[in-house]
Amino acid sequence: MSFENLLYEAADGVALVTINRPDKLNALSGATIAELTEVFRRIQSDPEVGTAILIGAGDRSFVAGADIAELARMSPTMAREAAIQGQQLTRLIETLGKPVIAAINGFCLGGGMELAMACSIRLSHPKALLGQPEVKLGLIPGYGGTQRLPRLVGRGKALELILSGEPISGEEAHRIGLVDRLVTVGELPEDKKQAAAALRVALLEEAQGLASTILQRAPIAVRYALEGVNQGLEMPLAEALSHEAGLFGLCFATEDFQHGTQAFLNKQNPQFKGQ
Ligand code: COA
Repeated sequence: MSFENLLYEAADGVALVTINRPDKLNALSGATIAELTEVFRRIQSDPEVGTAILIGAGDRSFVAGADIAELARMSPTMAREAAIQGQQLTRLIETLGKPVIAAINGFCLGGGMELAMACSIRLSHPKALLGQPEVKLGLIPGYGGTQRLPRLVGRGKALELILSGEPISGEEAHRIGLVDRLVTVGELPEDKKQAAAALRVALLEEAQGLASTILQRAPIAVRYALEGVNQGLEMPLAEALSHEAGLFGLCFATEDFQHGTQAFLNKQNPQFKGQ
């Protein structure tokens, strides 16, 4: 697959999607959103891919937001369309049926944070900067930020971030539960550029390690667990529990369940087939 604004590679069941506009700190142009939508549709339907990692090109930025130069030229109807495109992309990632890991390697602002919040798991290094700065531009988040941020960190913290527009460090984002795993390097090089490069390498290694761990698990169970958590959060508790029980029961119809339980009882490592 070749794209203008993305790099794509897949190996051993893991797809690596790199947003590749480093000169613009990987800002999300309309074309980039369209390419991301295409790549995630392909990942969804590719049986060879079990999980995906999303990262930004270069050492400075994951994604520094929607492309402000494009936003500045939009009419209200174009802006509405752009928000719909961005929301469809984030919803696609959230409901992909396969885990998507965001590796936050620097600026993660506006649309970048909205993209990261749609991912299943967020990894970051401590020096990344995360925020929703839209109010500084006379805007509000439009790719789901007003909805996903309070669901992740609670209403007060979300409003603090959205209303102030001020970014927080990866370390602080980890403390408030916006980032799930903080990745750092024992001894960082003193040179800033070298330090940023070392952090990116460590982050990617950690994301790849996590992706391979998930890939060793029963694929249908992984899919149902994602569905249980994501759909359940949108339901009343009683309905969500009933949904969970249904998915739990369905696992018993899989060969992987038979194999996994037998492997445990026979003290062997399971080799799941996704059947
Ligand atoms: N949209 C379009 N271009 C962007 C961008 C964005 N969201 N973020 C950065 N860029 C571009 C800059 O215009 C600049 O391009 P140029 O070299 O052609 O002038 C390039 O990326 C480098 O950015 P620069 O601002 O020079 O880097 P910096 O280190 O001084 O500052 C940031 C980095 C992230 C603090 C700053 O770029 C910024 O505030 N970006 C906008 C963040 C934002 O508001 N996002 C939400 C948008 S809704």
